[in-house]
Amino acid sequence: MDATATDALVIEDMVKIYRSHRTEVRAVDGVSLRVAAGTTFGLVGESGSGKSTIARCALRLVPPTSGRSMITGEDPATLRGGALRQLRARTGMVFQNPMAAFDPRMRIRDSVAEPLRTHTRLGAAEVRRTVDALLDEVGLAASHADRLPHQLSGGQCQRAGVARAIATSPALVVLDEPTSALDVSVQAQVLNLLQRLKRERSLSFLLISHDLDVVRYMSDEVGVMRRGALVERGSADTVLSEPSHDYTRRLLASMPPAPGVDPAVSDRAERSLLP
Ligand SMILES: Nc1ncnc2c1ncn2[C@@H]1O[C@H](COP(=O)(O)OP(=O)(O)OP(=O)(O)O)[C@@H](O)[C@H]1O
Ligand SMILES: [Mg+2]
Repeated sequence: MDATATDALVIEDMVKIYRSHRTEVRAVDGVSLRVAAGTTFGLVGESGSGKSTIARCALRLVPPTSGRSMITGEDPATLRGGALRQLRARTGMVFQNPMAAFDPRMRIRDSVAEPLRTHTRLGAAEVRRTVDALLDEVGLAASHADRLPHQLSGGQCQRAGVARAIATSPALVVLDEPTSALDVSVQAQVLNLLQRLKRERSLSFLLISHDLDVVRYMSDEVGVMRRGALVERGSADTVLSEPSHDYTRRLLASMPPAPGVDPAVSDRAERSLLP
């Protein structure tokens, strides 16, 4: 698979084997995929099938056993120092549990500022201005900035998580079960926030979710993982409506849509629900 300048992420023949003295887990077993710029690639698959590990290897948060990834055309494995920091700044990550993603003793302002301090050379005043603008962009009030994570609702906390993920103006954002820990009533708000940011900031998403409604709503392409391998991929409509692989059919049958989630809430409704 040749990377092109229009690919936010290319993963080539990625393998990750976790070894302990007795066992060997092939968490990712030869996966290739491509996230075209401005699109969302949805990864589904049963628990333990290797979805999070692919994302971690692709961003090189853990080193793969073999294979490589290209983020906006550059392989993080070949970069060091400032160049690697710059490439890291082109990626962001949103995690499942927003409360756990933040240091419980750190004010929201400082958690959101962290990637700016790590990956950019902005001065203190500029960091502060940027954080204020980010919090506003994700629908948080200035008064939320000085709170601790437990002083926010789950939805507000995940908005702060999104603010942190986009702080350095990334091209690619990995969303690992971004709404699974949220109340059904706020899931759609966070999804619509993500869709709006994707549009306004020309983001590309690698989305990991076990919620098929979420995947269908968000994704252009879908890949189905089983035991570390991609067993099926294609347009979201085709894979989710007319799966060709028996495993996909069984997976779809075992994942009933969550009741009451209607992601088709308009942006206006999303904004009107802001704190
Ligand atoms: N640090 C690690 N050390 C050893 N094994 C690991 C490690 N991280 C993951 N694994 C194993 O790798 C496999 C894939 O795990 P991974 O977390 O990628 O699955 P997943 O598809 O994200 O699952 P879930 O839907 O439950 O989040 C699992 O068998 C897991 O136990
Ligand atoms: Mg996972």
